Amino acid sequence: MATAALSPATASLRLKPFSSTVRFLSLYNLHHHQPKTNKSIFQFITTPHHPLKLPNHFNRRCFSSVVTASVTSGEVVEKLKTESVGEFRKRLRIGDIKGGESEGLDKLGQTLTVRGWVRTLRVQSSVTFIEVNDGSCVSNMQCVIDSDAEGYDQVDNGLITTGASVCVEGVVVPSQGKKQKIELKISKLVTVGKSDPSFPIQKKKVTREFLRSKAHLRPRTNTFSAVARVRNALAYATHKFFQENGFVWVASPIITASDCEGAGEQFCVTTLIPTSKEVIDSQADAIPRTENGLIDWSQDFFEKPAFLTVSGQLNGETYATALTDVYTFGPTFRAENSNTSRHLAEFWMIEPELAFADLNDDMACATAYLQYVVKHVLENCKEDMDFFNNWIEKGIIDRLSDVVEKSFVRMTYTDAVELLLKSKKKFEFPVKWGCDLQSEHERYITEEAFNGCPVIITDYPKDIKAFYMRLNDDGKTVAAMDMLVPRVGELIGGSQREERLDYLEARLDELNLNKESFWWYLDLRRYGTVPHAGFGLGFERLVQFTTGIDNIRDTIPFPRAPGSAEF
Ligand code: 4AD
Ligand code: MG
Repeated sequence: MATAALSPATASLRLKPFSSTVRFLSLYNLHHHQPKTNKSIFQFITTPHHPLKLPNHFNRRCFSSVVTASVTSGEVVEKLKTESVGEFRKRLRIGDIKGGESEGLDKLGQTLTVRGWVRTLRVQSSVTFIEVNDGSCVSNMQCVIDSDAEGYDQVDNGLITTGASVCVEGVVVPSQGKKQKIELKISKLVTVGKSDPSFPIQKKKVTREFLRSKAHLRPRTNTFSAVARVRNALAYATHKFFQENGFVWVASPIITASDCEGAGEQFCVTTLIPTSKEVIDSQADAIPRTENGLIDWSQDFFEKPAFLTVSGQLNGETYATALTDVYTFGPTFRAENSNTSRHLAEFWMIEPELAFADLNDDMACATAYLQYVVKHVLENCKEDMDFFNNWIEKGIIDRLSDVVEKSFVRMTYTDAVELLLKSKKKFEFPVKWGCDLQSEHERYITEEAFNGCPVIITDYPKDIKAFYMRLNDDGKTVAAMDMLVPRVGELIGGSQREERLDYLEARLDELNLNKESFWWYLDLRRYGTVPHAGFGLGFERLVQFTTGIDNIRDTIPFPRAPGSAEF
């Protein structure tokens, strides 16, 4: 019974072999070149009246991702019309079998099918153990196979090696071993895909540096699959927190013409340099110029310089001043040449923006958010957190439990500078009022001065902060707040925004920023301005904080950093 319930119900999705398969390089072009029909791309491809012809002008410059479409015969189309799609298969995962209170003992005697990748094979004189992992939890399914089981010849033939994918069917029996309560006594073993002996992640311990060079295979390790699951739980909890509190999720654009942080650390987005393969052979002087020898941006795709966004905040503000409370959650990019364990060139940011709110509301929101997501992980990722506690950072569960339960410290920048000056610590970067706090200062404050408690520092000097922060009455500081946490330093940066048009314009002038380009942002202050505030949280730093992983490059599946864009 169990086996039938687990078999794929997707059979009807698998079409007969097609007469041919065509790769559409550009959806953009396809739509452009058949203007008089209202058919969707898929109708165009599959309708018998349209024998598939590629437009001649299907050129190599394309703007959208690759679409793979299949050309079918009329017969298959007919069949598609009459067959219904099967139920979505409910795959039994190892986590479902072993994850409950009884660690699988409730399944004793049941015949189950497990699919996954072989971690290890141990051949003993009387019995053979195959450890299978499917990524649903840290622990493997220990499978025991006797030489008379169906498919045992694959063990003898050397097919069952580390990295191979297998499908095993068997009965759940009590395990003799101490590590687990149950194991699967295999009745049938099938190799789905064998693994070449060169599989680079063998049992011997490998470093995380080495695994970074194998980013396509590292999710098959305990550490990286646990990080992936906790990252997923944090993303889920993020949406849950904001949705439960009435925030609306807003998609901020990835391509932008403004520099939110004003730090000039943006990646340019241009088609002046030819795209894809052409780029490698393109001439340096092919970029169009004006008479003065400057780059002629009017010939570029957006007819002006455009960049990958460093923050969705400015766009977030437009929606907050209409919908009241919003948040963005998406990728952001910074071309800062920082080869540190806390910086990425591509990272995800969560940016809530609250209207009719001041700095106190902002800090309260940041605190409630952090406590909520950490609590969610402690409650829902127990096995992964035990793994991190044992192997990555001893004591992390206690540290995070304190974050959930204790109140955070709050102090002004001026007091923080005083604290640093009074400390006996020798810092690499000397401290004085007006300097930006460095990671070593931030970590001293949260790790040593306040014993691991998160610290929110407020009211920074205006000269070290971005143009949009609200000027305080002292004329020297702004209503900014940074949340510092142990191991990471700055986890959150936020502020109350300058909602007064005249102050904001004066600040843009003071910083020599082009007021005209901020016309729409200034409009928010022209039409029904309100006090509002928000913050940005670096998602990968949150993953670092929650897992104890010390290098940020190990918290995102495919890290982008200076000199590193493989995979
Ligand atoms: O402090 P930042 O620069 O603030 C902003 O971008 C604001 N516009 C946010 C807002 O108020 N809506 O960045 C926010 C957070 C930092 O505290 C840090 O956690 C993270 O983003 N961050 C990075 N994370 C990884 N790699 C980098 N290069 C990062 N730069 C910032
Ligand atoms: Mg910051």
